[in-house]
Formats: sequence, structure tokens, C-alpha cells
Amino acid sequence: MCGIVGYIGTEDAKEILLRGLEKLEYRGYDSAGIALVNDEGVHVYKEKGRIATLRDVVDSSEEGSVGIGHTRWATHGPPSKVNAHPHRSVTERYTMVHNGVIENYEQLRREYLANVEMISDTDTEIVVQLIDRFAKEGSSTEEAFRKVLSLLKGSYAIALLDNNDAETIYVGKNKSPLLVGLSDGVNVVASDAMAMLHVTNEFVELMDKEIVVVTRDNATIKSLDGDVISRDSYIAELDASDIEKGTYPHYMLKEIDEQPYVIRNIISKYKTDDETIKLEEDIRQAMLDADRIYIIAAGTSYHAGLVGKQLIERIANKPVETHIASEFLYNMPLLSENPLFIFISQSGETADSRGVLVAVKELGYKTLTITNVPGSTLSREADHTLHTYAGPEIAVASTKAYTAQMAVLAILAVDTAKAAGITMNFDPLQELAIVANAMETLTDKKDVMEQIARDYLSVSRNCFFIGRAADYYVCLEGALKLKEISYIQAEGFAGGELKHGTIALIEDGTPVIGIATQEHVNLSIRGNMKEVVARGASPCMISMEGQEEEDDQLVIPHVHEYLTPLVSVIPLQLISYYAALHRDCDVDKPRNLAKSVTVE
Ligand code: G6P
Repeated sequence: MCGIVGYIGTEDAKEILLRGLEKLEYRGYDSAGIALVNDEGVHVYKEKGRIATLRDVVDSSEEGSVGIGHTRWATHGPPSKVNAHPHRSVTERYTMVHNGVIENYEQLRREYLANVEMISDTDTEIVVQLIDRFAKEGSSTEEAFRKVLSLLKGSYAIALLDNNDAETIYVGKNKSPLLVGLSDGVNVVASDAMAMLHVTNEFVELMDKEIVVVTRDNATIKSLDGDVISRDSYIAELDASDIEKGTYPHYMLKEIDEQPYVIRNIISKYKTDDETIKLEEDIRQAMLDADRIYIIAAGTSYHAGLVGKQLIERIANKPVETHIASEFLYNMPLLSENPLFIFISQSGETADSRGVLVAVKELGYKTLTITNVPGSTLSREADHTLHTYAGPEIAVASTKAYTAQMAVLAILAVDTAKAAGITMNFDPLQELAIVANAMETLTDKKDVMEQIARDYLSVSRNCFFIGRAADYYVCLEGALKLKEISYIQAEGFAGGELKHGTIALIEDGTPVIGIATQEHVNLSIRGNMKEVVARGASPCMISMEGQEEEDDQLVIPHVHEYLTPLVSVIPLQLISYYAALHRDCDVDKPRNLAKSVTVE
């Protein structure tokens, strides 16, 4: 949530910051701002709305080769110009941007700032006012910065400018992501390397409770006690073209189309020269040693985790529980003696998942993260990481990351089964190749999905998705996609459960999308569909070759029964996309959401 950038160099910072913020808009987009430093001091521009709106208010003649910027996802105080970052201290000496949540801001305010009149509703403002206070009391800026950061409880990635010293940006972090980018006579700061690839691809990672004093020629990392810390930089293996839309109208459509390539990429990354599964021995052993697996995830990744449970239990014969990350610590199940925790997270930054990771590590349990961003917090902090190789996912609604997660889970399940001596005639690498082809067949049929969206979802206020077994899990994901981007109220239901209450909502014309890819439940899901049709529902059946009936609206190519979720979700993603498009919704940046949720 929220993205921050900083630049100190020789060029005009304005455009570099704005371009960086555009790349970070996926982290939040309800207001934005930049601060530019030049000989006349620090100039702040901010506005409610997107970066495009901010561009309109930034004075194009204002130059400065130092600056910071922010794009916001509101937590404390509604989206507004006054709550937009950067925030300034009362004397205007300090200007600051912040990503995260300061949990003890009320207490700090009462204790240290009782006489200061706050301008905004934000927790952030307390931090900048407090730095000002300590500086007034005689601390240097760096001392004041370290002192304030040691008082903070919660999460933060912060960049601070001092009006009295135009040659330095102070940054610090705890729990929220932050990187410093290095170049010749130029240094940058960003929540995500993607934001500053137009300046450099060399970055230094920061750990929690570290600060960096950034000048044009140096980036000095220090602990909150002031001790200098040395750390090697790394080259971000990101291709700037991966994060461009190219000729696509939306990232979401591009990312849906990329799924066959992602699956082929995963096959190549997890295949040895002998065509067997390539996986670290330590991960194999951790899976074998575990007497029960706990999958922890949020949102779409949670839905992949439900499919993962089924895959691991059916293929590797090991018990698995899948839990919503935000609930786990408050409602912890009785744990087995030797559990393995698997965290599934596209971003690797989700605060709810990280909270569980920190807690179970303290309890001494083994952890594995399955993520699209190696080097992310969850990846760094877990014992092991499996990479999903989906490439940057920019659209807020997750598509290719979901199918990639399930593909990696299938490979993991088979590897575990083989290591445990279970014989089977299911080769995930071969079967995933069939999945990739099936995905391609479906992404080539966009006109069919557009028509379904037009027929069923142009005017309806709600929609139900029903399925059984693995199809039920896909229904949950299909409903989430539709809700997220089209704002149509949608629910995914186990086919047999609908009649126990929710069927009361079915009226004349209510769209019900049914999924039928599983032979053992084909007859029963069709029975459930008849129940809703008898009450006026408008049925749209999506079945798999071999299970189809004459009136089905769409028949997807046949794939192995373990892997059907990777294919049946494609039409649901596309139907959601077109439903949102027909309703003029902002497909890539739906209201109220953010891609990387780094607050609890
Ligand atoms: C946010 C996003 C969802 C995503 C969820 C979990 O809510 O909007 O699309 O599924 O976070 O994110 P993660 O990065 O942990 O998979």
C-alpha cells in the first residue's frame, strides 16, 4: 500500500519521480504528490486522484535535481489533497513521504506533540512533526530521524527531505519494502525496483530498522543506533519491457494472454536435463519431514492455496490445511507436531501473511514461500522459496500469478510424492504443457467470452458461480475477479450449498455461471444448475471436453483432472475483464483496491 520514490542526481527530478510513481500506482492510487528541491527551497505538489491528475498541477517550469514522491492508498484519513503526501512539519523545515501504518501515532502525539496543530488526519504527519521537534531541541537531522524511528511502532518506509540541506535524502524502513538504487553521481529510492528501472538496475536492499543517508555519490546504511552497515548491491533482473503494456489496452488482458508462456516458463525452470523435476533438496526434505502442511495466503493466492491443498493431499497423500492469513493468528488451529508452513504470495509483501510468518518462525516451525518476487520480504524471511516465474504482474486483479502458483504447487506435490516413494502415472511437466496449449485455445476465443459478458452481465447487479470439488475453488476465484473489477456483487458457491439459503437470492434472470470439469460431480452440479434454472436463473455452463452437454455455453479443452483449475479460470478471467470493460470500469486499477497490501 502506497508507493514511494526519491531521486538525487543531476537531471530534472520531476519527470523521473512522476514516471516512477506511475510504475507504483499498483500500490495505491487515491492521491499523489511530489516534493522538489531547488535553490529556493522545497516545493510540494499534491492532489487527490491519480498520477495523471498530479501531472496537471505540477508546475512544469519548477526544476530541481532532488525530490521525493508518493502515491497513496488511504488508511488514516480519507483520500484528499490535505491527506496526500508529502507532509511537511510545522516550520516547513522537513518534508516526508511514508508507506505503512504507525500504530502508536496517537500516543506519540499526546506525549510529544500536544501543542502542535496537525494539518492532516494522517499518522504520517506525527512522524515529520516529531523529527522537527527533536531537531529544534538540538539534534542533527540524522539523529532526529533515528530517534523518531526508534519510537515508532508499526510499519514504515520513509523518505525525508531537510530544507536546510538540499543534498541529502534520509530514508528508513520497517516491514514496508524499500530499496536504494545506485548509479554514477545519481542515487534513487523506491518501494519497488520497477519504479526506478529508467534510472538504474543496481539496487541495495534494506533490512528492517535500518536507515540510509542518500547523497548523489553515497548511500550509507546505518542501524538505528548509528552504526554503519555494509551490504553488496545486486542487479535487478527485470526487463523494462516486461512492465510496459505494449499494444494491449490493459495490463490485465496482457497478463491473461501471458499465461501459456508463464506455464511453459515454469516447466523449463523446474525441469532437469533428464526431464525430471528440479527442486532444491532442502525443500524436498522439508516436505517429507512435515506431518501436516499449513498453507497461508490472502485473496487470489488463498484460492490457489485451496487448489494446492487438494493437489498435495491427492498426489502426495499428506494432510494440508489452507488458511486465510488475516485470520490465522486470531483463530489458530491446533497444530500438528511437525508442521511445514507454506506462504503463497504473488508480491511476497502481504502484511497479513507476513504476520503469520513472523509468529510461526518464533515458534520454531519450518517455512516455505511460494512467490512471484524472490527477494521480497516473505521470500527473504522464510527458510525456503519457490519462484513462480510469472514476470511482473501489474494489474491489480491477479491472473497469471494465480495459475503460476497452482502450477508450482502441482510440481511440488508430485516431487513430494515421488520422494516418498508413491508411484503414479501423472507427469506434471508433460501435463502442464497440455495446460499451456489449452490456455492458448481459450485466450484465442476472446469474442466468445466478450459475448458471454454482454449477454449475462451488462445490466445485472449480481452473479453466482457454482461448482463442486476443484471447480468450487475456481468459482471462488471467478467471483472475486468479477467483484474486484466490475463491482458486480458476485459469490462463488459449492453447488450443493446454494440451496441451504443463498438460493433465496435467485430471481428471474439472475446469472449463474456453472463450472463442470470434474467427472465425479458432473451429474450433481448439473442437478444444482437445474435447481436455480427452475427459479428463474439465467444459466451459463462452462464444461470440459468429455463432460459437456449440448446446451453448454463454453467447452474448454480437456486437461488432466488435477489441473483443470488452471484452465477453467481463463474464461472467468476474460468474462470479468469484458464485464468491467462494458461497464466502463477502470480494469487495471479498480476502486478501493491495491495490489500489494502491506497493512494488516
Ligand atoms: C491484494 C490484491 C489481491 C491479492 C492479495 C494477496 O488484496 O488486490 O489481488 O490476491 O492482495 O496478495 P499476494 O501478493 O500476497 O498474493
